[in-house]
Amino acid sequence: MTQTQKKPINPFSQTHNQNQNPKTESSSSSRNGMKLIVPLQSVVQGRNGFLLGSLIPCALFYFFQLYLKRRRSNSNSNNNPSSPSSSSSPTLVLPRSSSRSNLSSRGSISRVRLSKLASILSKPDDSLYYIGLDRVLQDPYDVFVNPNGIIQLGLSDNKLCLDLIEKWLVKNLEGSVMGNNDMNLSINGIAPYQAFDGLNELKIALADFMHQVMGGSVEFDPSNMVLTSGATPAIEILSFCLADQGNAFLVPTPFYPGFDRDVRWRPGIDLIPVHCRSTDNFNLNITALEQAFSQARKRGVKVRGILISNPSNPVGNILTPEMLFSLLDFAEDKNIHIIADEVFAGSTYGSEEFVSIAEVLDSEYIDKSRVHIIYGLSKDLAIAGFRVGVIYSHNKTVLDAAKKMSRFATISAPTQRIVTSMLSDKRFIQEYIDTNRHRIRRVHDEFVDCLTKLGIKCAKSSAGMFCWADMSGLIKPYSEKGELELWEKFMSVAKINITPGSACHCIEPGWFRICFTTISFEEIPLVIERIRKVVKTCKSSS
Ligand SMILES: Cc1ncc(COP(=O)(O)O)c(C=O)c1O
Repeated sequence: MTQTQKKPINPFSQTHNQNQNPKTESSSSSRNGMKLIVPLQSVVQGRNGFLLGSLIPCALFYFFQLYLKRRRSNSNSNNNPSSPSSSSSPTLVLPRSSSRSNLSSRGSISRVRLSKLASILSKPDDSLYYIGLDRVLQDPYDVFVNPNGIIQLGLSDNKLCLDLIEKWLVKNLEGSVMGNNDMNLSINGIAPYQAFDGLNELKIALADFMHQVMGGSVEFDPSNMVLTSGATPAIEILSFCLADQGNAFLVPTPFYPGFDRDVRWRPGIDLIPVHCRSTDNFNLNITALEQAFSQARKRGVKVRGILISNPSNPVGNILTPEMLFSLLDFAEDKNIHIIADEVFAGSTYGSEEFVSIAEVLDSEYIDKSRVHIIYGLSKDLAIAGFRVGVIYSHNKTVLDAAKKMSRFATISAPTQRIVTSMLSDKRFIQEYIDTNRHRIRRVHDEFVDCLTKLGIKCAKSSAGMFCWADMSGLIKPYSEKGELELWEKFMSVAKINITPGSACHCIEPGWFRICFTTISFEEIPLVIERIRKVVKTCKSSS
């Protein structure tokens, strides 16, 4: 609750301050009346005794008061014929300054205006992705406190290695913020303003981490970085830099539901879905891109870029180097940008090897100024709460503009100090990367295996914290409506939150994203049991 809400402001308080207090005014007029009456009383008392001497002054005083009241209400109604105070409550004698009178001359107090954006955003969510997240918050599963609560499988949070992060923090937190024997930090490096686009030390450490996590095959230049508080503002800032309101980006489907908000809300850029199919394991193809581009052009929409998540969220597949080259050709041909969101680059577990678009740029002469990478530590280092993201670009104009915009999305200096220290601990980072990959693979393999035994197949994937499960056999009718009903069953019967394909703009009904890194290996049987319940009810009703 805000201060204003706690202590409501009296709408008339200004009037009180600026003008004479009405009580004071009325009492002063009474005093004036009395000044006139008291001498009169003494005159009358002298001639006709006590009765007349009391009655006449009282009557005179009464009429004088009546006269003053009339005069006041006349002048009010002349100035402000429809004032609520004069018409509906005649006893309310709060005088108004002329500006107040003019304001209220419309007859009633209008509701204060808000922006169109605020009006839209204040409405309830219409995406099941966000509705699901809200419902978990209302009834979250907890093995001890709320064992019948909803299990969160709709958020790509990685909890598999929090023990490692915790251990490191317990040992190093104080030293990383305040300095230790190796580092000579002072309060001056923490409390005052720091560069909005991030500390150089963190840029250097992040460039190293990206190099390491992407297999050591590509170098990142810290001077091409703008740091932001998470990948989310990085996407938004880039959108502001690359396109104008009403322009569009092509986005292969299914795609991460957050893109809708990051790109559409404030930058006002439209997203044009480029549909990928299950028959192709939801891989991107250039023909579909060409079609979407030319259709947009026919509608008069200016396409300014392609937005990809590689590895893909929600499918978990990886673009091949050949596809990356084709994308670069396409972007050059159409003179548009490529935004490559690579936040899952280090969370690989499968047979496919991840290749960053930065590596492809290094290998050939290509116009680098149209390629921009989004990265962050929410996924690969599982510190989403720390809010660390980065825009990596070779385009100096984009970097200069993004640096200025980063004032709205700065990472706090203590956070930057902790993360710099963590990333610089090479032994810890290598152990983390290896353990994380091992644990993701273990949970993924077990989870997918259990789903397969229930008759639910998943798309082939090599990265990410989720599987992309085909439950089209469980929906009836075969439509978005059927998908929604199945989602509701998972919520209310199984008490698990998963993300329906429609929230990811998937064109084929019945696909669901299930995040498995929010639970431990030991909790898999519990989740599978809950899913089994839904499968059983679907099969028995068909
Ligand atoms: C593809 C993708 N990009 C960006 C984000 C947002 O990351 P952050 O939490 O760092 O803002 C997510 C989060 O799920 C994501 O999946």
